[in-house]
Amino acid sequence: MHFPSLIEKKRDGGELSPEEIAKVISGFTRGEIPDYQMSALAMAIFFRGMSDMETWHLTKAMLKSGQVFKYPPNSPPKVDKHSTGAIGGKTSLILAPLLACDEVWVPMISGRGLDITGGTLDKLECIPGFNVNLGHRRAIKQLEHIGVFMIGQSAEICPADKKLYALRDVTGTVPSRPLIVASIMCKKLAENLDRLVLNVRFGKGAFMKTRDKAEGLGEAMLRVGEAMDTKISYLLTAMDEPMGRSVGNALEVAEAIDVLRGRGPADVVNLVLDLAARVANAPRAQLQKWLQDGSAWKKFVSLVEAQDGSASVLEGIASIYRAPLIREITSDRDGKITAMDAEKIGRASLLLGGGRQQVEDKIDFAVGISDLKKVGESVQRNEPLMRVHARTNNALERVLPLLREAAVIGDEDHT
Ligand code: URA
Repeated sequence: MHFPSLIEKKRDGGELSPEEIAKVISGFTRGEIPDYQMSALAMAIFFRGMSDMETWHLTKAMLKSGQVFKYPPNSPPKVDKHSTGAIGGKTSLILAPLLACDEVWVPMISGRGLDITGGTLDKLECIPGFNVNLGHRRAIKQLEHIGVFMIGQSAEICPADKKLYALRDVTGTVPSRPLIVASIMCKKLAENLDRLVLNVRFGKGAFMKTRDKAEGLGEAMLRVGEAMDTKISYLLTAMDEPMGRSVGNALEVAEAIDVLRGRGPADVVNLVLDLAARVANAPRAQLQKWLQDGSAWKKFVSLVEAQDGSASVLEGIASIYRAPLIREITSDRDGKITAMDAEKIGRASLLLGGGRQQVEDKIDFAVGISDLKKVGESVQRNEPLMRVHARTNNALERVLPLLREAAVIGDEDHT
């Protein structure tokens, strides 16, 4: 195979054959195709797209780069959810242990931060000791024991996605429909599920800016999933303002813990319940009860302990990662919040150090934005609109203009 010719073929709008796609993915996974060539191909795919057939073969090749989970006979239904990327998205941290309170197994494979959106694995790694790399046998044992695991792609599981995901994160090639479909669906196919719900986001802070594009993405994932013996649905949700009131790794873990303790922002609670109800055996009211009576929290603690994490620090996680500089941004007038731009807030969190700008970058778990006002809430002059958590003065000064622009305040409606 002459790899530069394949890049040129895609660059010029050609269709890659199933054999070419399979060779690209196996060569890349084995390290025979360097990152710079794979990045060029990803950019060509970003601009030229892929047919349904190419997307299916890409997903299949990425799945085949690793193992598929096999379960003991007569084990409970296997269920999961996956999101297409969110600002302040912390649903997985709550939903996985919540679903495991039900008579189901939750074999969740997630990813790291991607572009301006946060990632479940980075958030889990804020918990000291938490191990996101379980092998197949240990993962199955954990399902038998507590009904849930939360892991990442590895040398065993979706290794092609592990490598391509990290490259896309830093090469401007994330918002590509075929690349998102293959990345998500290879992980979900590897989980070998009975039921799957996809949370497809649209709006300012989403990879798909319009509802139509998000619907196209949802439908494309359903088409890839048709070959699976899995009941799949998707839920479209707007991502114009951040989810909840916190953006940034440790800040989001603290907010997720709040929800698991029966508190937390209503938008997060409602979305978790809406998604979980689509794949659970139990009805929504029972799921809500498990959030409020401590069952989901206890399951989360068991999950953290099972994966070598330090559960004793969970409730004080925000203080472990307290950033050296915390600055309030206040309102310059009385009024009502009419917009809280998720894209600007996600970008600010990335610039503060909450995301990667190069593949090898280490994330700063402490930084981010908290206490965000929500659209529709009233504010008074000098009242805080948000708190910015920064490591250095330079970083803080860089993001303040962006964050001031993110909050739009209109007149209070006195009707
Ligand atoms: N989640 C993934 O796993 N991959 C993507 O490309 C986007 C969201």
